[in-house]
Amino acid sequence: MSEGQAGDEGEWLALCQLDDIVPKTAKHFDTGAGGIGVFRFEDGRLFAIEDRCPHAYALLTFGLMDAAKESVMCPLHGWRISLTDGEVKFPAESCMGVRTYEVRVRDGQVEMRAEPKTKPAENMPEGLAG
Ligand code: FES
Repeated sequence: MSEGQAGDEGEWLALCQLDDIVPKTAKHFDTGAGGIGVFRFEDGRLFAIEDRCPHAYALLTFGLMDAAKESVMCPLHGWRISLTDGEVKFPAESCMGVRTYEVRVRDGQVEMRAEPKTKPAENMPEGLAG
């Protein structure tokens, strides 16, 4: 990973070339923002989320991607995590979740914004957010 690039839009981290992520798969990156999973669908949609299941910390990049629901099913116990807002959609919506990040492609390179787009702590009841 190359160093972050600051700009008007905040800091973006370069992750890889788009071709490095095969469509319908996900790839894990160790970044300054922690372990990040980038999910690429066949139609070009890309999502970047914290690559750690909120249940027992499995890598979500080993999970089963669902293009219609824009989610990933955890490989360990089947929790379904939204790729758009990081919330747990199955078994029940809860205050748990993962951070999500904006992701873009520039000159064939996949980049993610260093600051999270959504944080699960924002949904937590007062006193529980860490
Ligand atoms: S570790 Fe993900 S559902 Fe249990």
